[in-house]
Amino acid sequence: MSSSENRVGIAIVKGDVNELITKLNQAYADEWMAYYQYWLCAKLVEGPIRVQVIAELEEHAKQEHQHATLLADRIIQLGGIPLLTPMAWEQTKGCGYDATKNAYVQAVLEENIKGEQCAIRYYNELLVYLEDKDPVTYDMILHILADEVEHEEDLTKLLHDLTSIKGV
Ligand SMILES: [Fe+2]
Ligand SMILES: [Fe+2]
Repeated sequence: MSSSENRVGIAIVKGDVNELITKLNQAYADEWMAYYQYWLCAKLVEGPIRVQVIAELEEHAKQEHQHATLLADRIIQLGGIPLLTPMAWEQTKGCGYDATKNAYVQAVLEENIKGEQCAIRYYNELLVYLEDKDPVTYDMILHILADEVEHEEDLTKLLHDLTSIKGV
């Protein structure tokens, strides 16, 4: 008998648990990519207000990593297995990640805002899917979505500060 058999905590999930695990694994892949994108951009970014931007990017990287941890724990709790390799992240990703070609602060902020907006849309759709199926995952995704909304706001404010300095 596998450890997930006869678990009431899994049985209360309405709908297809495997389908839910697939959706969570897509988010899991995207969180690792978001983590890496922030982590790398914090190393490479150049230009005005760089120090402020680095602090924000590092903070976001930490939070995307926490999201990956939450998702992995929930996937395992549901009897699934988190994606085993970075190659699988690439095959499963939703929002994904475009390699940074321009390290200038404005380009970095815009690129990361794009990523956050994609994540916000994905998690919002996931909440609609989960609404009448799984309150535990719903609650977790709601928490993650709130963080992504805050990330978009943080980056948008920095971009605004930057363009104010430049008088654009
Ligand atoms: Fe995230
Ligand atoms: Fe985020």
